[in-house]
Amino acid sequence: MISANPCPEGINDRNRRAYAGIALKYAGPEPAEDDPEMRERCRALFCRSIKGKNVLEIGCGPGVDSHYLHKKGLNVTATDFCDEFVDIVKDRFPEIHAHKMDMTRPDLSGESFDGIYAFASLIHLPRELASGTLQGLRKLLKKEGVLFMTLIDSSIHREYVIPNWGNQENNPMLFTCWRQDEIELLLKSAGFGKIEFHNIGSALYENLPRLVERGVTNYQILAFI
Ligand SMILES: C[S@@+](CC[C@H](N)C(=O)[O-])C[C@H]1O[C@@H](n2cnc3c(N)ncnc32)[C@H](O)[C@@H]1O
Repeated sequence: MISANPCPEGINDRNRRAYAGIALKYAGPEPAEDDPEMRERCRALFCRSIKGKNVLEIGCGPGVDSHYLHKKGLNVTATDFCDEFVDIVKDRFPEIHAHKMDMTRPDLSGESFDGIYAFASLIHLPRELASGTLQGLRKLLKKEGVLFMTLIDSSIHREYVIPNWGNQENNPMLFTCWRQDEIELLLKSAGFGKIEFHNIGSALYENLPRLVERGVTNYQILAFI
């Protein structure tokens, strides 16, 4: 039984430790994509929407999307709050600038990115930290910048904890489910203007037992300044 941690910063830190323990396993022995077709469609949507070449990835994990965006000719900064992932990206893709950064405390220069790519990273963000985090990300974007996110919603949960994330005993991971009207309000309050919702399907994720049993669905957002 996982005891509830009342401090959202503590939960964020607990998430980081949980990823640290499984980062090598999560990354696999070599770069690979879980659902290449879905990822390709997400990246294409993002690439069509950005007005310049400076791109920041938030929660890059082992870096497959940063690598792809770099190959498309973009100037990519790959970030994650987990040292282990940053080291994996540096090792596998030395041509990419990888930097340790917690999205709740961005430490990069303001107005320096044309686009931010966040694939399945804000799914772990404690709800209480969302408003400040989105405001911080908004400040990193240039005037016509865009934020891309994939998020989850659930017909059953507002949030849930998987106690043995990565099949590791006592390795709790928080999943935050975002209703579309809720995240839209937060994005508008953070200073974003036009918001687009997309549903890029994935046979893999739509049939994953741990998602099906929790009523979880994925969707994508483009938030423009
Ligand atoms: C589901 S994984 C997705 C990884 C990668 N985007 C991909 O698609 O393979 C979530 C990632 O978000 C990162 N993450 C979670 N919370 C974060 C935070 N507060 N700041 C930065 N990275 C975070 C995790 O370390 C992990 O790499």
